[in-house]
Amino acid sequence: MSNATLVLLITAAILAQVAVFGLFGWLRQRAQLRVLERRGEGGAGGAVRMVGKPEQDQGLDPAPVAQAPAWPGHREFVVQRRVIEDGNGAVCSFYLSPADGQPLPTYRPGQYLTFKLEVPDPTGGPPKTLVRCYSLSDRPRTDCYRVSIKRVPPPPGRPDLPAGVVSNHFHDQLKEGSRVWARAPSGHFFLTQDSVLPVVLIGGGIGITPLLSILNTMSDRADPREVWLFYGVRNGAERIMSEHLKTLSEGQPGFHLHCCYAVPDPDDLLGRDYQQQGYVDLALLQRTLDFRRHEFYVCGPPAMMESLVPALAAQGVPAADIHYESFGPASLNTRAVHVSTTRANTSVVRFSRSGKTVSWDGAAASLLDLAEGQGIVVDSGCRAGSCGTCQTRIESGAVTYSQAPDADLKPGHCLLCISTPTTDLTLTL
Ligand SMILES: Cc1cc2nc3c(=O)[nH]c(=O)nc-3n(C[C@H](O)[C@H](O)[C@H](O)COP(=O)(O)OP(=O)(O)OC[C@H]3O[C@@H](n4cnc5c(N)ncnc54)[C@H](O)[C@@H]3O)c2cc1C
Ligand code: FES
Repeated sequence: MSNATLVLLITAAILAQVAVFGLFGWLRQRAQLRVLERRGEGGAGGAVRMVGKPEQDQGLDPAPVAQAPAWPGHREFVVQRRVIEDGNGAVCSFYLSPADGQPLPTYRPGQYLTFKLEVPDPTGGPPKTLVRCYSLSDRPRTDCYRVSIKRVPPPPGRPDLPAGVVSNHFHDQLKEGSRVWARAPSGHFFLTQDSVLPVVLIGGGIGITPLLSILNTMSDRADPREVWLFYGVRNGAERIMSEHLKTLSEGQPGFHLHCCYAVPDPDDLLGRDYQQQGYVDLALLQRTLDFRRHEFYVCGPPAMMESLVPALAAQGVPAADIHYESFGPASLNTRAVHVSTTRANTSVVRFSRSGKTVSWDGAAASLLDLAEGQGIVVDSGCRAGSCGTCQTRIESGAVTYSQAPDADLKPGHCLLCISTPTTDLTLTL
């Protein structure tokens, strides 16, 4: 065979390979687009569509495509073990094993479980069904999941109001052997697996739970990335899993623990128990971290979220490197955390049951925020499109989602917590 023929043959082979790869890539992209389109269908009575990566316009993380849940509906769990985790006795870990004895699926560290509980009515009425989300606080295991729950007291200065219903129900009523029902792990706040960037975890109070899952998973997998944990609490009594964190920081040179106590107790020792008096703030991050690019994961109370997340963005940290999660209405003014504004349009939103009509001016982060701002009571759980609690019927008009919904949707319904109107809209609310 001549040299020219050989060169021709090799060129033809390379071209054929490129064509095959190109075809596969195109097919995969088409399949992904179809999933997005299917997720965006509204069905009879109303329309819903996915917008192309709106969060990037807003400076948020890109919208991930929702994954099918690891099991449909709710699965029954048995409380295997309870462990009090802090000096105040306010945080209890619940180890939950599946009642069916089958191995548990893995999850992405940072995700949460959505529980449905029947809680007795203290006034003697019929029990209420309530939905709440709790982050998985440990690395994935096949025999049990762990959640760590803080007992929520009445708001400061309002002892007349009832304490948090579900958190106190867990603490007071759920003993070893008790049963609970939960949906499969979900949520979009989780460790990026394929990144090589050093990881910065910033947790305030009970917001530490998803970060513990990330940390424990990285430790278990001997992940080579360097990790910083900035953990803000009032004092040593509020800090959870102190011994575990101490062991990790002493045993793993790539892990750096920085505890900030806002109001240390006389027993708390600077340098031994905590590294800074005050809050986790930008100045501390700037003093501690080097100039490399880092990936940030933030979960904490409103003050922390509303100051740190925009501050990181203002410092030029790319939006894709800032991941954050809030623990719902009690702990977040969603709009204050958004790095920039939502799109305004001139839609008019009518809530048919409450008889209220409002203009959409983009000031609310979602239709859920808009409804609550009007004093309309809406059931909600995750506020992230996962639990399905805020599902509402669209009588007319269309909405768009800021991220792909995880929850199963009835035709003609939308999830208020992740949607905004694109036309005039009437909702059965
Ligand atoms: C994704 C996600 C993950 C989460 N992970 C965790 C976790 O790992 N650990 C954890 O502990 N929590 C977590 N949470 C928070 C949790 O889901 C609950 O929001 C929390 O436990 C409070 O629920 P509750 O039923 O106890 O309180 P609720 O009954 O919902 O009450 C909340 C607050 O409202 C007050 N209140 C009651 N009535 C009134 C009234 N009439 N007017 C004004 N205020 C009133 C209560 O006193 C209480 O302070 C998470 C939330 C989300 C969304
Ligand atoms: S509150 Fe959970 S899906 Fe909207």
